[in-house]
Amino acid sequence: MVIISDDKKLGIRGKDSVTNTVRNPNIKAESIEYDKTFENSIRPKDFDSYIGQCELKETLKIILEAAKKREKPLDHMLFYGPPGLGKTTIAGVIASQMGVDIKITSAPALERPRDIIGILMSLKGGEILFIDEIHRLNKVAEEILYPAMEDFTIDMTTGKSQTAKTLRISIPKFTLIGATTKAGELSSPLRDRFGMMHRLEFYTVDELSSVVKRTAKILDVDITEEGAKAIAKRSRGTPRIANRLVKRVSDFAIVKYDGKIDDIVANESLDILKIDEFGLDTTDRALLNLIINKYDGGPVGVETIAAALSEDVRTIEDVCEPYLLQAGLLQRTPRGRKVSPEGYRHLGLKIPSEQKSLFE
Ligand SMILES: Nc1ncnc2c1ncn2[C@@H]1O[C@H](COP(=O)(O)OP(=O)(O)O)[C@@H](O)[C@H]1O
Ligand SMILES: [Mg+2]
Repeated sequence: MVIISDDKKLGIRGKDSVTNTVRNPNIKAESIEYDKTFENSIRPKDFDSYIGQCELKETLKIILEAAKKREKPLDHMLFYGPPGLGKTTIAGVIASQMGVDIKITSAPALERPRDIIGILMSLKGGEILFIDEIHRLNKVAEEILYPAMEDFTIDMTTGKSQTAKTLRISIPKFTLIGATTKAGELSSPLRDRFGMMHRLEFYTVDELSSVVKRTAKILDVDITEEGAKAIAKRSRGTPRIANRLVKRVSDFAIVKYDGKIDDIVANESLDILKIDEFGLDTTDRALLNLIINKYDGGPVGVETIAAALSEDVRTIEDVCEPYLLQAGLLQRTPRGRKVSPEGYRHLGLKIPSEQKSLFE
């Protein structure tokens, strides 16, 4: 329930809420700002160009077809997993396939009750509301969302304490798509209100090769099969990184070669960018080296690591760690992070005998 003392405040959206409405059929952005970025210009807009995540696509195709046949809005959905794996993109694909508009916002932009009320009241029937970083929603915003998600209503109390009146407002049926890097931080009442939850997985080298070739084509860059594979291998299983590397390598190819990317050009430029054959960058290696050199390989707490690297704890947890953990170079223990024998090997270091006896 929301307490709003002034009726006029209803429906006013905070001026700093970052919201975009994207219109169909081709998800062209209304705001120029949204359209400007490289990322959005190469975002797949349908299931065919959305590479990999086959299980998810199959499930979604069925859900979407059923919703269309029933002429009902889709169930609320939650996508989670490390950054850059395609959570925002799949939300756009869903909207496009359903032929509905999508309003894009993120939890930090919904700080005040009127921010979320404003957005909910502006929704049209069948529309999709996409809330990024949904684990960061505050309690009040969450409580406004519960009845909105469940019964498509907003409960509001207007006026001062003695004269307070509760008002229940109906809003059109909509679909909430939430995205988060931390599903574990979502409160259980919120989690329970999603009809579908799906974890996005890291991509295989073959899938990333396809991402690289697709992006190269859009950018009009000439690339060989081996060149695409070389970039894919160093992209940490992440399309966003693959796309970024295509751009960097293509700059390098233009300046140093004839513009064409083959495996030699790709590997040479990625070496110069200090991205190793596992896709680890300077920060990742600094993290492993720190644990090894200062803390005997761990365990050490993430706060200590972040402080020593002058990085944000969130960046370490959300950006660096997921891939290091998945690649088996780092381990999470109740007492903190530990470098695995594989991590030592990757850095070309000898595994300390104590570690060896523990792990092998
Ligand atoms: N399955 C995919 N196929 C092709 N490109 C993808 C795919 N998933 C993500 N991308 C690309 O990676 C970039 C990051 O994706 P995004 O959806 O913003 O990730 P997230 O929201 O999970 O952080 C996008 O620009 C998009 O072009
Ligand atoms: Mg996103």
